[in-house]
Amino acid sequence: MRFPKNFLWGAATAAFQIEGAWDKDGKSPSIWDALLPGHSKDGSTGAVTCDHYYRFREDVARMKELGLKSYRFSVSWPRVMPAPGIINQKGLDFYRTLVEELTKVGIEPLLTLYHWDLPMWAYEKGGWENEDTARWFEEYTAAVVDALSDKVRYWITFNEPGGFVTAGYKLGSHAPFRQEPEKMPAISRNVMLAHGRAAKVIRALAKQPAQIGLALDGGGVYPMTGDEDSLRLAREATYAGNDPGSFAWWADTIILNCPPKALAALLSDADRDIICQKPDFYGSNLYQCNQVSGLTDEEVLRRHPGLPTGVFGLPLTPKAMYYCAKWNYARYGLPVMMTENGFAQRDWVCVDGKVHDPQRIDFMTRYLLELERAMDEGVPVLGYQYWSLMDNLEWSEGFYPRFGLIYVDFETQERIFKDSADFYREVIATDGARLHQTADPVPLGGLEPRTHS
Ligand code: GCO
Repeated sequence: MRFPKNFLWGAATAAFQIEGAWDKDGKSPSIWDALLPGHSKDGSTGAVTCDHYYRFREDVARMKELGLKSYRFSVSWPRVMPAPGIINQKGLDFYRTLVEELTKVGIEPLLTLYHWDLPMWAYEKGGWENEDTARWFEEYTAAVVDALSDKVRYWITFNEPGGFVTAGYKLGSHAPFRQEPEKMPAISRNVMLAHGRAAKVIRALAKQPAQIGLALDGGGVYPMTGDEDSLRLAREATYAGNDPGSFAWWADTIILNCPPKALAALLSDADRDIICQKPDFYGSNLYQCNQVSGLTDEEVLRRHPGLPTGVFGLPLTPKAMYYCAKWNYARYGLPVMMTENGFAQRDWVCVDGKVHDPQRIDFMTRYLLELERAMDEGVPVLGYQYWSLMDNLEWSEGFYPRFGLIYVDFETQERIFKDSADFYREVIATDGARLHQTADPVPLGGLEPRTHS
């Protein structure tokens, strides 16, 4: 099959990771601005990153050159609402100009309202431990919808809620760098209330019919082989979780109104009325997933030494793309949007002045072929957002993991298209036919024995 003509080929970014200008034009600090120092692996901050706040016009021109049909970005809450109840017009103007530039060249904006940069003022008032944060989020959403919804149709309320709740409050690896796992259920409830309130406000105020979703974490659990038992075990394990790191925690609650036990106890009927705002699509951030029987990445790597991995040491699991799309569609009944999928390595500029990244091209080919396979079997997929448009600040990991299609020199701000950018341009221009240039794709090995169809 070819990917449909209206398929939303795109790339994704997030405000904190690319904008810089953290204190410019009335913006107040987010928890990432304020709390990252001391936690960053390479001492980086978000002060400049890709300087996108000042270079967005050239970045949109590059998106156009790539042939992107869509672009997923996030709005910085403290840029728009630098203090409780205060709307910063200059902040809104920045995003207004950005979406105008995008729509002028035919790129569909996919707007994320929360990609982890909680305003520091909200954190000082209790942050996600305080139910008022959901109300402030609703006010902020109303301002963004009022300013942008004539141009924006696709709205993503939260990016990886399971990710930021777990990394921020259990692992202590993301802002606010806390290790208080007992707080996670109450925090999740407030995040879900914020999603519900935002979704309602978007539906009420949007100037054109809105498509609402969340970008949910992960790929679930990966079957060892294609046989029935393995598939059943993996599928059960995928939806079994009872903590914020699981599919069930967020998706079963918000989409099916069927929260897992540890959460159900906290939710009143009134809460459920707010929270269970059914999305229009299932947004999925998918990188890799663990093997069945709860094997962690480390166990998998010990079991299959030398597996293909990226810079984080995560094994490549392209078949997760297929299962994730199929199983989530079967369970939630919503069209799927791949809101993130990407590969990090240590790219550099080669002696010929180019950035050669064959591994990333192979990664994209394998994952996109699996997505296509799910579509061939009837799963409606709206689009694919490669993470990321350009190299950027990978949160506490600093600048070394490079995910971009576009290489960024963080000292000069020079941008260079990597080979993968040229490849993606061809994929888009051929509606995916470029993916089939290898007639008989060789399996990846390791996690994907030849017998695994
Ligand atoms: C996430 C975030 C991105 C990351 C990306 C790579 O999924 O963690 O949405 O901001 O940069 O995933 O880790």
